[in-house]
Amino acid sequence: MPADRPTAAAAWTPDRPIVHIDDVHKSFGSVEVLKGVSLDVMKGDVVCIIGPSGSGKSTLLRCINALVDIQRGSITVEGQEVHDPGLDKRLLRRKVGMVFQQYNLFPHKTALQNIMMAPIKVLKQPRGEVEDRARRLIAKVRLSGKEDAYPGELSGGQQQRVAIARSLAMNPDVMLFDEVTAALDPETVKEVLVTIRELAEEGMTCMLVTHEMGFAREIADHIYFTDRGVIVEHGPPATFFTEAKDPRTKEFLGQIL
Ligand SMILES: Nc1ncnc2c1ncn2[C@@H]1O[C@H](COP(=O)(O)OP(=O)(O)O)[C@@H](O)[C@H]1O
Ligand SMILES: [Mg+2]
Repeated sequence: MPADRPTAAAAWTPDRPIVHIDDVHKSFGSVEVLKGVSLDVMKGDVVCIIGPSGSGKSTLLRCINALVDIQRGSITVEGQEVHDPGLDKRLLRRKVGMVFQQYNLFPHKTALQNIMMAPIKVLKQPRGEVEDRARRLIAKVRLSGKEDAYPGELSGGQQQRVAIARSLAMNPDVMLFDEVTAALDPETVKEVLVTIRELAEEGMTCMLVTHEMGFAREIADHIYFTDRGVIVEHGPPATFFTEAKDPRTKEFLGQIL
């Protein structure tokens, strides 16, 4: 495995934010979608981002693992600037796993094969070792017995748990979840949330965009409310849901709770 190049990241210590977002501006053409977003996440924290559709939540998550570039500001992960042109994006994406609403599993590969693919192809890890880990991950997301099932033979919730296991197979330090239950049938939402909750309880640093307010309230250390490209308000769930002050937050919570 290639050693990390010596960079600022070498100086990162867990008493500093693992994800540090500072005054990030992002435009698509002439449309400014993020208008100066700042947010810090400490190791082991669970941060939920809520807000109306189109407010820039997905864009923000995508900036963190460099799926989209930014025009201004800074994002660091473990002290390393994500938008440094010299950054090896593969190293970044190994540290920062991301799961989307659409699970995008390879339909012609089994659950186990989907999970094993990146560690073998990208990390060049030995197949036996990767397979052992993939089997443990299948068990962890409560899919023992489904190792050889193809995505088409699994429910949406089961496929999403395979997608989570696939991301975990890279041993990330941070997980980003973008509305991962939004496309699921109500009866399978819960099993995916259970998986995420267990990860959070084990100390995984998680950033979630979600409309599951009950879940956010239960697992988040901190909640951020975004509207039209800015963070309007944030706080721990105990106060966020009861003491929101901004009229935009109140209106949103009024509609959704
Ligand atoms: N690749 C893109 N090209 C152009 N516009 C985009 C792109 N991605 C997102 N947008 C626009 O940015 C805004 C914010 O989108 P998004 O981050 O997906 O919001 P949210 O996740 O909060 O619903 C929307 O107006 C959307 O149309
Ligand atoms: Mg979105």
